[in-house]
Amino acid sequence: MIKQITNIDEIKYLTNTFHSKKKSVGFVPTMGALHAGHESLFKKSVSENDITVASIFVNRTQFNDADDYKNYPRTIENDLQVLEKTGVDVLFLPKHEEIYNDDYRYRIVENSLSKILCGSSRLGHFEGVLTIVLKLLNIVSPTKAYFGEKDYQQYLLIDGMCKALFMNVEIVSCAIIREKDGLAMSSRNLLLTHDERKIAPNFYKILRNAESTSLAKTQLERLGFQVDYIEDLYRRRFGAVFLGKVRLIDNVQI
Ligand code: PAF
Repeated sequence: MIKQITNIDEIKYLTNTFHSKKKSVGFVPTMGALHAGHESLFKKSVSENDITVASIFVNRTQFNDADDYKNYPRTIENDLQVLEKTGVDVLFLPKHEEIYNDDYRYRIVENSLSKILCGSSRLGHFEGVLTIVLKLLNIVSPTKAYFGEKDYQQYLLIDGMCKALFMNVEIVSCAIIREKDGLAMSSRNLLLTHDERKIAPNFYKILRNAESTSLAKTQLERLGFQVDYIEDLYRRRFGAVFLGKVRLIDNVQI
């Protein structure tokens, strides 16, 4: 059975013990509702480290919409099976009150990349992400931490934060894992209705194939997507769309 820890001092003590024995610690922070995309992160960490810690914490401060936080899928029974199956050693399940013992008075603000793409429509989102990731990295003190490229903007911001703050951790990015029909794996896919799920793969197809961002936008809207943004940046095409109430993001190399 996977070891489950909720207490911050306890997980700190455990990972410190590993470091004192010169063992490497891999860390995969998540918000649960685990899928094959997370599995690939766990497997990579397990193959590269002596011990792998995963965390599940639905981080309230990164949700700019209270309903989105409330409806975020929570599937702990299935999550435990995925963690066991992939060989994760320890699951850290912190409590909001202990993590935010400062009532979120202290936060990490980035002033450039976090203001565009997802940052321009989800105010405060990346402040919440960077703050929780910094807290988790300080608690777990991993040798390496793993993040999926579906959230490429998030990965760039976390990597940038760790470099800017001279943190002792290597940030590793892992390729997007897709369903057979091309839809990027995401916990939010669980929230799509049957009909929305059928339309959803067109997001990736259009993002990849459209000749320009404006053409992509028109084609997506014609199919019933509500487009938040489609932008070419850093030799990638980034997109965020709504299908009904569900917000999907994706990116492709161009
Ligand atoms: O990508 C996620 O699941 C979250 O943004 C993260 C990195 C676990 C922080 O809450």
